[in-house]
Amino acid sequence: MISIRPACADDAVALNRIYNQPSVRRFTCALPFTSLARTQAVLADETATHARLVACGADGQVLGEASLRREANPRRAYAATLGIMVDETAQRQGIGSALLAALLDLADHWLNLHKIELTVFANNEAAIALYKRFGFVTEAVLRHEAMQEGVLRDALAMGRLRQGLPRDASLAPPRPPQAPRAPFSLRAPHADDLPGLAALCSLPGICFGTTGRPFMTPQDVAHLAAPESRAHAILALSGEVVAGLAVLTPGRGRHLHAGTVESLLVHDAYQGQGIGRALLSAVLELADCWLGLSRVALAVLADQDHAIRLYESFGFEVEGRFAADIFRGGAYADSLAMARLR
Ligand SMILES: CC(C)(COP(=O)(O)OP(=O)(O)OC[C@H]1O[C@@H](n2cnc3c(N)ncnc32)[C@H](O)[C@@H]1OP(=O)(O)O)[C@@H](O)C(=O)NCCC(=O)NCCS
Repeated sequence: MISIRPACADDAVALNRIYNQPSVRRFTCALPFTSLARTQAVLADETATHARLVACGADGQVLGEASLRREANPRRAYAATLGIMVDETAQRQGIGSALLAALLDLADHWLNLHKIELTVFANNEAAIALYKRFGFVTEAVLRHEAMQEGVLRDALAMGRLRQGLPRDASLAPPRPPQAPRAPFSLRAPHADDLPGLAALCSLPGICFGTTGRPFMTPQDVAHLAAPESRAHAILALSGEVVAGLAVLTPGRGRHLHAGTVESLLVHDAYQGQGIGRALLSAVLELADCWLGLSRVALAVLADQDHAIRLYESFGFEVEGRFAADIFRGGAYADSLAMARLR
């Protein structure tokens, strides 16, 4: 007899024991010797979580856990990331299915989530079979995505999408008059740049082509100039104007070898001046020569032909297509998953 209930702080010891089981750890992104304090911290900080459920046996013992993580970007508020694990002594008894059914009921009928996403090691046959039974499909094969027992392994990005969502057919906004070609320089952002950065990220062409949104405030971009930020941001300046931005975020833990280009954007009026190429080149030099990353990944809206060609010219390859990856102009637009391996 299995019962499902919300996780609570007292579950930390039981969950930490499961995180540290070798056959569970192999397929999650937990590191060996995950401390109890770390597990307690995860349970204490649920601001980034929609729901965390545990499955208990007849004696009340915690045998499994599943969670849905919220998306930080409001344009992706309809999406959440799923994580799940079952005690290695209790697998293949229907616990994973029971947890997944409960979470998907929450997602579909209570949280109004339209897309559930996850990544799973490509050699995790059990989980892939489970996800397929619940309607998940493979959207991309992410090469060398994470470390698993000494080897960089591929992972599948899988998604489960609500049917009937309005699909994107929005037209690009008209290009504004172009600024005269002028020299530009690259540097790290300062706190003084935040208003210019917010204005850049809110431009119509940027919102259309990226994950920015109208009316962003300096506070929305403050993390880019914060000393404690893990993101490496590079600005392009044309005179006093913030004309471009690139952001590279290195991974953590079992993703230490991998980085993500979170943003690469050039002001609507300064495109075609070589700023994007210079920013991407700077970001990749950082990745290759200073951070030692062997995988750099990004997602690009599927209709951004210029950007896709630019990425391909630097060795990025398409790894798949994320359906309904971002809300744009009242509908849902697809992105391509791209990555460059060294
Ligand atoms: C993946 C996992 C959560 C499945 O939980 P579970 O309780 O064993 O799953 P269930 O008993 O509900 O099985 C549901 C279905 O999953 C698939 N499945 C489960 N174990 C399987 C296995 N060893 N081989 C093949 N398929 C398997 C089957 O389709 C199964 O249905 P069936 O028993 O009717 O054939 C569990 O194996 C686990 O915790 N693994 C380690 C952590 C992990 O991989 N987490 C996911 C990271 S993305």
